[in-house]
Amino acid sequence: MTVVSCPIEIVGVGPEAAQLLSELHARCFASGWSSISMQHLLHLPTTAAWLASNAAPCGFVVFSRVPPEAEIITIGTLPARRNTQIAQRLLSHAFTQLRDERIELIHLEVREGNTAAVGLYLKLGFREVGRRPNYYSVGTEREDARLFRLQL
Ligand SMILES: CC(C)(COP(=O)(O)OP(=O)(O)OC[C@H]1O[C@@H](n2cnc3c(N)ncnc32)[C@H](O)[C@@H]1OP(=O)(O)O)[C@@H](O)C(=O)NCCC(=O)NCCS
Repeated sequence: MTVVSCPIEIVGVGPEAAQLLSELHARCFASGWSSISMQHLLHLPTTAAWLASNAAPCGFVVFSRVPPEAEIITIGTLPARRNTQIAQRLLSHAFTQLRDERIELIHLEVREGNTAAVGLYLKLGFREVGRRPNYYSVGTEREDARLFRLQL
């Protein structure tokens, strides 16, 4: 894949960013989360979130963490900004910060047909540790969830 990466700024965000993250989420996923749901999530003491911007916000990631483990709850890059290593740089930044919080293990779950996300996680060194058969519904079909883990 040809990569033209752009300079981005990555900052940690909290409940004040709920509306923005909910708008970004809605532009990245078929079914969005309301600003209220995002606000509840960002208010939890176990939540950690980062926002990537390049002139305008372009990506985000939200974790739930209780040392020594954390889980990626959601991650997205705006469609027009994909394949410029925004998600990879967001995760690398987040992992550095999480290591400082004594996080040693990252978990996540991904739909097996989500080739972009699966490719991202494999590139970052995640390994599959299990599956949930027929976990997701995609139209009239079912797809497995793949469970991944990364030792930081
Ligand atoms: C998954 C997602 C976050 C990737 O974001 P991105 O910023 O485009 O990813 P990056 O540019 O950082 O890609 C990093 C690596 O991931 C892999 N990757 C990214 N997109 C890919 C694709 N379409 N197919 C295969 N691998 C892909 C590649 O290994 C890539 O490295 P490379 O560019 O050196 O080949 C983005 O596609 C997205 O927002 N999808 C919709 C929301 C979603 O599905 N989130 C994940 C839920 S589990």
